[in-house]
Amino acid sequence: EVMKELLGLRELENKLENELGVKKVIVVAGNSDQDSWVKREMGRACMSELKRSIEPKDVVAVMGGTTLAAVAEMMQPDAKTREVVFVPARGGLGEQVENQANTISAQLASRAGAQYRLLHVPDQISKEAYSSLVLEPSVKDILKLIHSARTVIHGIGDAKTMALRRDSVDSFIDKLIREEAVGEAFGYYFNKSGELIHKQRTIGLQLDDLGEHKYVISVAGGSSKAEAISAYMKYRPSDVLITDEAAAESLLKL
Ligand code: G3H
Repeated sequence: EVMKELLGLRELENKLENELGVKKVIVVAGNSDQDSWVKREMGRACMSELKRSIEPKDVVAVMGGTTLAAVAEMMQPDAKTREVVFVPARGGLGEQVENQANTISAQLASRAGAQYRLLHVPDQISKEAYSSLVLEPSVKDILKLIHSARTVIHGIGDAKTMALRRDSVDSFIDKLIREEAVGEAFGYYFNKSGELIHKQRTIGLQLDDLGEHKYVISVAGGSSKAEAISAYMKYRPSDVLITDEAAAESLLKL
């Protein structure tokens, strides 16, 4: 804590809380665009925040991405986390298996000695498939559990990076460029004013389902994500933002 004062990180946190309208901002030293240990530091901060805020028997829903994978790596079991149920907030979103929400929720649970459930559905599917899948009793059950989550942990991505990583078609990439998309989270793409440009049809938690009662922890760092974080927080300010110094400084310059 003394270290944080000395490094000026506390000042960045206070400024960002005001700027973004986020109740609690935690800034770790470094730039995760450059050093992979910075993602793990954000992960460590996320795990202490989780342990502070959860209650036994809580359901915790997690999204995917490389940042969330680093969050899962930092789980250290304690009495509280052992009582939690981890669920994926959503399906795969076209990510590699190690970065999928299912994998990350299973990882967190295995490190915590906690329970987890999987969502066995492809993430991006046709309208017809969607309508019938959500009526399957086993899918309905897990979706109910996912929607009951009190805590949601998710990443935020740069719009173009995410679209390319998910093998999107050229026409979609063109649309994102034309409409000046800067950020992505939960399969929602935003412009810099925080306006919704596109929403992928997916099974699981939708950003618009996150009512007041959910405790939302966003984890995203690196100066390349400054615009994305700012856009997302305009759409729906989180309860907690965990970021790094480089993103924080770039955010304050926007
Ligand atoms: O939706 C946002 C992405 O999951 C963020 O992915 O943590 O690999 O940058 P990332």
